Amino acid sequence: MKKGKVDALLGIVFGDEGKGKVVDVFTPEYDVVARFAGGPNAGHTIIFEGQKFVLRSIPSGIFAKDKVNIIGNGCVTAPDLFMAEAKELEAAGYDLKERLHISKRAHLILPTHRVLDRAYEAAKGKAKVGTTGKGIGPTYSDKAARIGLRVGDILDRFEEKYAALKARHEQILKDLHYTDYDITDEEKLWLEGVEYLRGFHLTDTEIEINRYLKEGKNVLAEGAQGTMLDIDHGTYPFVSSSNTTSGGVCTGLGVGPTDIREVFGIFKAYSTRVGSGPFPVELFDETGDTLREVGHEYGAVTGRNRRCGWVDLVALKYAIMVDGVTKLIMMKSDVLDSFETIKACVAYKMDEEEIDYFPFDINETVEPVYVDLPGWQTDMTKMQSEDEFPEEFNAYLSFLEEQLGVPIKIVSLGPDREQTIERYTEE
Ligand code: GDP
Ligand code: IMO
Ligand code: MG
Repeated sequence: MKKGKVDALLGIVFGDEGKGKVVDVFTPEYDVVARFAGGPNAGHTIIFEGQKFVLRSIPSGIFAKDKVNIIGNGCVTAPDLFMAEAKELEAAGYDLKERLHISKRAHLILPTHRVLDRAYEAAKGKAKVGTTGKGIGPTYSDKAARIGLRVGDILDRFEEKYAALKARHEQILKDLHYTDYDITDEEKLWLEGVEYLRGFHLTDTEIEINRYLKEGKNVLAEGAQGTMLDIDHGTYPFVSSSNTTSGGVCTGLGVGPTDIREVFGIFKAYSTRVGSGPFPVELFDETGDTLREVGHEYGAVTGRNRRCGWVDLVALKYAIMVDGVTKLIMMKSDVLDSFETIKACVAYKMDEEEIDYFPFDINETVEPVYVDLPGWQTDMTKMQSEDEFPEEFNAYLSFLEEQLGVPIKIVSLGPDREQTIERYTEE
């Protein structure tokens, strides 16, 4: 039997590209959907049949009732938030217990990790990362320091292990003089969440996934965050704490690089970023406000304003390179439907020099160099096929493809599952 393959679907900019929507659309073509990195810092929105769901830790393939969904070893999980998310889905009629499998190797986010997240941010003063406050950095730090707790730990002498790590965190908080916190209620819920988690299929998901592949089944690896938030390749230190890039698929699921077939890179027809850090294309003018309002660019997790700007081809090229993107998916082009002129950043100006690569020392002084493209000024949200696309829109796609060297296979014209168009351009 022919071995199955893993396709990766990655946000390739600063997150919130629309991964949830596309994973949901793609799910019927796969047997398994698996998250490989991140945790409840993610907020993946799925809209269909008049319903809206925002998933944090649970993969976006969960709405197809015959598919297995996996939370892989590269993920971090907060039992209390997981419980809330899972119960909401169960209340909406989605039975999870049989088909949501969780890696025993995924790390647990403790209530004190979240306090540490706040404490570290407070200590940073002006250089705050602007984290989601979900304890992501401290949890991955403990993983790297080899002191973390894993999902599998809840199955044996858990109270003891939990108390030891919590005490360690409390000592750090004391040393930081960060003592004004109270986790009593949170901890109660968290421990309830641990009990709830015990009712799930906690397993060696790397073995399970490899068994599926051997049986000829195909896996969709759902990215979280985006390439520019990757701990190695993003705008460090203004990044998240995991490998959100394609390498993270291998380590975060336990599959080999030769098992990966397609790497889908998702980006918006413009740019957004939430949290601090360099963002050369950020617009502080009316255009930025229009993009935010028309695109509803407010964080799905924190409700924060997303910073907005034109599409950044320098960042996209870098992401395509480090991820090995084979196909592009462009989201939210409908947000640009009424613009007369659309800009695309093709290079950065740094110290009076023009560069077309993503530099190590990117900072606030980097200036974008734009080209102007004519807008299509057409409502595209109800279009059903690429035959209806306006000429200017096709020209925008061709320009991007030429610049990026990778075909744009899908365009999304609205948040609903149905507003998704596959392009049948030649490869
Ligand atoms: P994710 O984190 O990558 O899954 O993306 P988010 O869910 O955080 O943010 C994407 C937002 O854009 C959500 O509110 C989606 O409902 C919405 N969305 C997705 N695709 C489109 C699209 O093509 N057009 C519009 N207008 N909204 C979209
Ligand atoms: P999805 O999967 C957008 C950002 C935070 C902050 C930085 C570090 O929905 O695309 P963290 O809490 O991870 O330590 O925060 O990363 N960030 C995201 N931005 N989308 C996300 O996820 C994000 N997850 C984290 O705003 O700047
Ligand atoms: Mg999101």
